[in-house]
This record gives sequence, C-alpha cells and structure tokens, in this order.
Amino acid sequence: MSNPVTGPVKVAPSILSADLLNLGNQARQVIDAGADLLHLDIMDGHFVPNLTFGPGLAKELKGLGIPLDVHLMVSNPGWAIEAFAPYAEYLTIHAEATPHLDRMLRLIREKGCKSGVALNPSTSPGFLKYVIENVDLVLVMTVNPGWGGQSFIPGMLQKIEEVSKLVRDSGFPVEVSVDGGISGKNAKAVADRGASILVSGNYIFSSDDMASAIQSLRRRTLVNC
Ligand code: DX5
Ligand code: ZN
Repeated sequence: MSNPVTGPVKVAPSILSADLLNLGNQARQVIDAGADLLHLDIMDGHFVPNLTFGPGLAKELKGLGIPLDVHLMVSNPGWAIEAFAPYAEYLTIHAEATPHLDRMLRLIREKGCKSGVALNPSTSPGFLKYVIENVDLVLVMTVNPGWGGQSFIPGMLQKIEEVSKLVRDSGFPVEVSVDGGISGKNAKAVADRGASILVSGNYIFSSDDMASAIQSLRRRTLVNC
C-alpha cells in the first residue's frame, strides 16, 4: 500500500547520529547522498532526559539548502516554536508535551511552517481526528524518544497502519513519518503500512556508503544489514 497523497517514500536522516565533531561535513555528505529532508532532534532535558541542539544550529543547517524536519521533544513548546520556525519546513511537537495541542498546531502554521504532531509509543492515535485539519505531518515514534540508536518496537507497525488509515479517511494531505530504529530490515514493512517519510539516524550514519543506505530505505527493499 503506497501513500496515495505523497507517492514514493522520502528519507530524512537524523543528524543526532552524525559525528558531532564533524557535523557540517556529515550534513553535506548526507545531502549529497540523496537525503530529502534533514531531521533535527531538539531535546530539552525535561520532556526527555537529554539535551541536544538550539536554533543557531538550525539556522546554519538551513543555509545548506535542504528542508529541515525539526522534531521538538520539548515540554510546553510555544517558545521553541517561535525560536525554530524561521528555519523549519516541518515543525513537529509532541502530543504529550502540551495541554493545548490544537492551539500549538495552529501557531506553527501561523509562523509559516508545516505542522507536525508526534506520538510516543504508548499514545493512542484516536485524538488525531479532532486536530487533523491543522496537521501536515504525523510522526509515529517507533522508539521512546530521547536517544538515537535504539531498537524498533515491532508493536508500532499496527499503529502506523491505524494512523495511515485515519489520515486517508480524513481526506487531508498529511504525511505519515516514522522515527526510531528504521533500517533496511524494517523499511519495507513500515512503508507498506502507509509511511511516506522514514527518519533514520544510526543506520545511515554508521554506514560506509550513505547513498546506498538511503537508497535501500527509499527503494523499500529488504537488504542484509
Ligand atoms: C529519538 C529521535 C530519533 C532518532 C532516530 O528521540 O527522535 O530521530 O535520532 O535515530 P535512530 O534511527 O538511530 O533510531
Ligand atoms: Zn526524531
């Protein structure tokens, strides 16, 4: 089942898994290797017990000429929406991070970005039907947020399918993105359940050949890894 709205699957490398002492070169390499988007994980030390990057890095990465897919793992993210909006194509907040999801999603669009909502593994997708008209992307987390390099949680395949169906039924052009433990081993299963964007960190950046790694995700074929 391919996504009827967006066509072929897109690949968004997560630079969380890049060599951080060589970040600029790693970003350029993964762009040259065929990335569609660059996924930037923002962690606040509160919503998740880890800290990562600020808007200064987002500004520099935007200067490389690739659309940024900014994933805010931030409690009460209003301030972060303001801070990252100038640099983001997609700006994604967590459903669990705010009691005012609808208002925050509208704010993202008002700031000129495409709005995304992320779901932790334990979050049921039913609420989406009440906000879907203000959503451009749903990010299904297939690991618990906070770190790169974790294993894909197999039970999330069913959720990807449920979210894809909910999106199709809504009639709105919403991307279904999947984040966490994505590799050549599971890309086909994930895409077959309706994902239109695959976020992948460790698999791409630990590869000797990033272009082949990206192609192996985009072609939706099973490879040995
Ligand atoms: C986890 C992040 C992911 C992570 C993906 O909190 O949202 O984007 O970096 O990395 P891998 O593909 O290594 O799981
Ligand atoms: Zn992410």
